[in-house]
Amino acid sequence: MIPSVLPTYNRAPLTFVKGEGAWLTEADGRRFLDLGAGIAVNALGHAHPALVGALTEQAHALWHVSNLYHIPQQQALADKLVDLTFADTVFFTNSGTESCELAVKMARKYFYDQGQPERVEIITFDGSFHGRSSAGIAAAGSEKMTKGFGPLLPGFVHVAFGDLDGVTNAISDNTAAIMIEPIQGEGGIRPVPDVELKALRQICDDNGLLLILDEVQCGVGRTGKLFAHEWAGITPDIMMVAKGIGGGFPLGAVLATEAAASGMTAGTHGSTYGGNPLGCTVGCAVLDHVATPAFLDGVNRKAGLLRQKLEGLVADHPDVFEEVRGSGLMLGLKCKAPNADVVAAGYDNEVITVPAADNVIRLLPPLTLTEDDIAQAQIRLEKAAQQVQGQLASA
Ligand SMILES: Cc1ncc(COP(=O)(O)O)c(C=O)c1O
Repeated sequence: MIPSVLPTYNRAPLTFVKGEGAWLTEADGRRFLDLGAGIAVNALGHAHPALVGALTEQAHALWHVSNLYHIPQQQALADKLVDLTFADTVFFTNSGTESCELAVKMARKYFYDQGQPERVEIITFDGSFHGRSSAGIAAAGSEKMTKGFGPLLPGFVHVAFGDLDGVTNAISDNTAAIMIEPIQGEGGIRPVPDVELKALRQICDDNGLLLILDEVQCGVGRTGKLFAHEWAGITPDIMMVAKGIGGGFPLGAVLATEAAASGMTAGTHGSTYGGNPLGCTVGCAVLDHVATPAFLDGVNRKAGLLRQKLEGLVADHPDVFEEVRGSGLMLGLKCKAPNADVVAAGYDNEVITVPAADNVIRLLPPLTLTEDDIAQAQIRLEKAAQQVQGQLASA
C-alpha cells in the first residue's frame, strides 16, 4: 500500500523535534550537529531569536494579503536587495524552483519584446540542478530527473561542465541566455572558477545574451560574500535566489537588471504567496544579519577553520576521502568510500551531512556555526571516518 506521504524520498530513520543554533534534537533525545542546515536553508541556524521574534511579531499583525495590494514588508526586502546587489528589481517566490521558472520566462520575454522571438534557447551545464518543475528538470537535463516526465519543455541546450568552447559552439541565432550555478550544489560542490565566470559574462556581452546565475544554494552569505558571483567581480542580468534568504521560511526571489526585467509588465507573472508579509519579514531579518561586513568576515574565518579540519581528515583517511572542495561554508568531501556510507556513519556519530552527486558529501552548516561547533564537527566526522574505514577493512 502506498504510504500516506508520497514516497519520493528515501528518508533516513531520524525525526527531529527541536533545533537550536547548529544543533538538532532527535525524538529519542540525541543531539545531532547539523552540518546540512536543511540543505543550505537555515542560514542563521535553528530558532535564531531575531527570526523567531520577527516572525512572531508579524504573525500577530498580518499573515497574508494578496499581491493585489501593497505589501510594505515586500517593498522593504526588495529595497534592501536592490541596495545590496546588481539588481534594479526583485520578484518574490516561495522556492528555488519557482525562481527558475521566472528566470526562464523573463529571459524569453526580454527577447520577445526586443523583436527577436526566436531567441528562446538557454544554455545550461551537465551536473546542474535548477529545481523539479518542468522547466527546472528540462534545464538540468539529466536522465535521472527527466526520465518518464516527457515531453520536456524545449529550448535548453546542455554543455559539459567547464567547457567554454562548448558554450561558444552552442550559441546560435536562437540563444537567449546562459544559466549556471556559480558553485554546483547537487552536482557535487563543483565551483566554477572565477576566470570561467568572467569568460561567461564576456561571452554573453559579446553575443547579446543574458547571464542567469542560480544562487539558490550558494547565495546569501554562504561563500563569505553576500552572493557567490561577487568573488569573480562580475554581475549577472538575472539571479535566482531561495533557501538561505528565508532562513527556513519558504522564500525565494528573482533579482534582475531593469533591462533584463523589461518584458515583465503587469499581468505577465504572479504568485499567490510570493512576497507575503511573513516571508518578507523573515527575509529582512535574515539580510539584516547576513549582509554586514562583520558577519561575512566571520563566515570566511570559520570557513577557513572548518576547511583546515577537513583537509586534516582527508589526509588522515585517504581510503575514505579524496579531497575537500568548495568555497566558504559550502564545502564538499569527495569520497572514495560510497558517500551514502559516510553520511550513514555520520548519523551513527550524531553529525548530519548531505550527499551529492559525484560521490560527494556536502557540508552546508548554519553560517552562525561557532568555533566549538567546528571542534565538534572534527570529532564527530573523525569518528564517522574511522567507522567507514573499519567497514572497508572488514569488507
Ligand atoms: C542551485 C539550485 N537551484 C534550484 C533549486 C530548487 O530549489 P527548491 O528546492 O527550493 O525549489 C535548488 C535546490 O536544491 C538548488 O540547489
